[in-house]
Amino acid sequence: MIIKDGKVFFRGDFVQKDILIEDGKIVKIGNNISGESIVNAAGKLVLPGLIDPHVHLREPGATEKEDFLTGSKAAIAGGFTTVIDMPNNSPPTTTAEALMKKGELSKKALCNVLFHFGATDDNFEEVKLAHPDSLKIYLGKTTGNMVLRNPGSLEKHYDIFPKDKPIVLHACDHSENEDENLTRTYKTIKAAIALAKSKGRKIHLAHAATKKELALARPFPNVTVEVAPHYLFLSTKDLPALGTKYKVYPPLKSEQKRLMLLSAFEEADCIATDHAPHTLADKEMGAAGFPGLETSLALMLTACNNGILTRSSVIKKMSENPASIFGIPGKGKIEEGFDGDITIVDPKKEWKVKGSELETKCKWSPFEGKTLTGKVYSVIRSGKTVFENYTFI
Ligand code: NCD
Ligand code: ZN
Repeated sequence: MIIKDGKVFFRGDFVQKDILIEDGKIVKIGNNISGESIVNAAGKLVLPGLIDPHVHLREPGATEKEDFLTGSKAAIAGGFTTVIDMPNNSPPTTTAEALMKKGELSKKALCNVLFHFGATDDNFEEVKLAHPDSLKIYLGKTTGNMVLRNPGSLEKHYDIFPKDKPIVLHACDHSENEDENLTRTYKTIKAAIALAKSKGRKIHLAHAATKKELALARPFPNVTVEVAPHYLFLSTKDLPALGTKYKVYPPLKSEQKRLMLLSAFEEADCIATDHAPHTLADKEMGAAGFPGLETSLALMLTACNNGILTRSSVIKKMSENPASIFGIPGKGKIEEGFDGDITIVDPKKEWKVKGSELETKCKWSPFEGKTLTGKVYSVIRSGKTVFENYTFI
């Protein structure tokens, strides 16, 4: 397959190049590559298959909200060829057996699915047995019941889990008082960073919602941090429009805090959707979480079109950076020898977010009705086209 005449994201810049893919791998990047099986990418952006390091695909346990097929279709339609799935399932992914079973279930996915393993107060042996690529530790309450209770558990997991792999921390907490919440979250993060520093261990902070969280992480080379689009583009100003769908952890912040976070965007290492679909009935009962796979790239590109962010930085934070943080070999870059995972985007295509038209099983979006510029045109996974001309093959 030859992807011709596109503007290719290559070594941090957009350049006019052709890409030759053979046997699922990128074998050549150059000009005027000719041959059969041409994909015409003229006028399009050609990106490395995007990577979302924080999704909840809900299988097993809550397949009324999402499953590996619908969740992975949402991922592909949103330009993601690789996602890392969270462990707050039922049963939770906290044993080697649960991880293995989840791996089996994920075989129906249309994208690559990797897994975060969940830490508990007593699953140290299971962590060793499962030797997962990433460990997720909940230091504050959220959907599922996975928070560590024993104060010694964090240190023990820090010691046992391989130092070169990241431990992902969910630090946010919630109660009615937002100031109290934030104070507690910052305190948790500071303590977790201090401990990580003393042990030379890598940690990754999930879903930063304020500029301060980015600032706390930034001085430490072993600490990385992700930001989710809904904290960049939604605030408490949007609560009336969101109605019973408003709830998400961490909660949306004030418009002032949102603008501060947006202005500090460069400090974030990567973008993660925290795709957390719930049925509308569950939302009415107070379930927290937003679906985000199908709007993330378009929201980011729209902000680029408006001159707020720059394309190369956004794409790096959605491809190369998550691949490097989570040590995903062969992914996140368009380079010779890398996997043939490619996302082709029409950067000028305008579209309106309509929940009913999304691939996610939950069929709603917190961005309902917003007009975005930039849409995923085609997606190639391991050298095979899975999505073309805005539709699944
Ligand atoms: C997530 C979920 O529903 O699984 N919800 C959320 O509001 N972000 C849980 C989480 O990411 O903490
Ligand atoms: Zn999450």
